[in-house]
Amino acid sequence: MIPAGPSPAIDGDMLLPAPRRGLPSPTMQHPSPERSTPSRPAKVFEAIARNEPHVTETHLSLQGDDAVLEVEQFQLHYGAMHALHNISMRIPRGKVTALIGPSGCGKSTLLRSVNRMNDLIDNVRIGGSMRLNGDPIYAPGVDVIELRKRIGMVFQKPNPFPMSIFENVIYSLRIDGESDKRVLAQTCEESLRAAGLWEEVKDRLQDSALRLSGGQQQRLCIARAIAAEPEVLLLDEPCSALDPIATGRIEDLIEELKGEYSILMVTHNMQQASRTSDCTAFMYLGRLIEYGPTDDIFLQPHLRETEDYVTGRFG
Ligand SMILES: Nc1ncnc2c1ncn2[C@@H]1O[C@H](COP(=O)(O)OP(=O)(O)OP(=O)(O)O)[C@@H](O)[C@H]1O
Ligand SMILES: [Mg+2]
Repeated sequence: MIPAGPSPAIDGDMLLPAPRRGLPSPTMQHPSPERSTPSRPAKVFEAIARNEPHVTETHLSLQGDDAVLEVEQFQLHYGAMHALHNISMRIPRGKVTALIGPSGCGKSTLLRSVNRMNDLIDNVRIGGSMRLNGDPIYAPGVDVIELRKRIGMVFQKPNPFPMSIFENVIYSLRIDGESDKRVLAQTCEESLRAAGLWEEVKDRLQDSALRLSGGQQQRLCIARAIAAEPEVLLLDEPCSALDPIATGRIEDLIEELKGEYSILMVTHNMQQASRTSDCTAFMYLGRLIEYGPTDDIFLQPHLRETEDYVTGRFG
């Protein structure tokens, strides 16, 4: 018999997979004993409030990495609003880089700048440069359609096209005029396998993608992005609309894609950043505050501001 009355409260954290890296729970309010406290007093935000020029604290250990994407002194204005200030960072090849920071700090703006989606917005002005595998993204004469083919993007809310699962996955090949049925079928299977969705959908590839669950739709969107063999994969809060189980599957998937794909991912979930990423970039008010290996950012950040953010003491 099912007991009457309200069900016991479930602690959301209990449903989350355990951290894989042995990192402390980012939901804790105090540093763990092994955390080395930054020696510098908190002063970065005061300097930003005075609008002083800001220099990112980039950890030296990142400098040798082979970069898939290089961002140099990148600026972006929406009209009079200065949304990105002098961002310089190198996104390493074959790794996962997490972008973290409070709401409105410019994470999505930076991500959208990589595939020039901000071009579609009126009044946007940019400065500085970005390079994808050495090729300028913003130079005059860049074919934006061709550029976007080299970059995959997955959004917060899954956005399958209103067509079959099969047609969703092979969409980029259709655009390129590929009509060989064997090539299309093989790409579809490989991409769905890579996205961890093949076993669930292999018998209903002709069904509408809109009938999949939210978590399945998000993995389908990742499969669609992978099918185009992007040089970099941009994920903007890919799990924020998903339940903890679907979130765990996407995190496993990101872990599996690592190595073959270079991923730049926005997340508000500190546990997710610590579990899935190799490097972490902390942004605040349009500035890149600190950028380093994820273990260092979470366990021994150089700046007190970063420590306060990753331990949940502000934001
Ligand atoms: N199209 C736009 N026009 C004008 N201002 C914009 C536009 N898009 C974003 N902004 C502003 O730019 C700043 C950065 O926004 P952005 O969406 O990049 O933040 P975010 O870090 O992704 O935030 P969140 O975590 O809430 O998604 C915000 O102040 C926002 O209001
Ligand atoms: Mg955003």
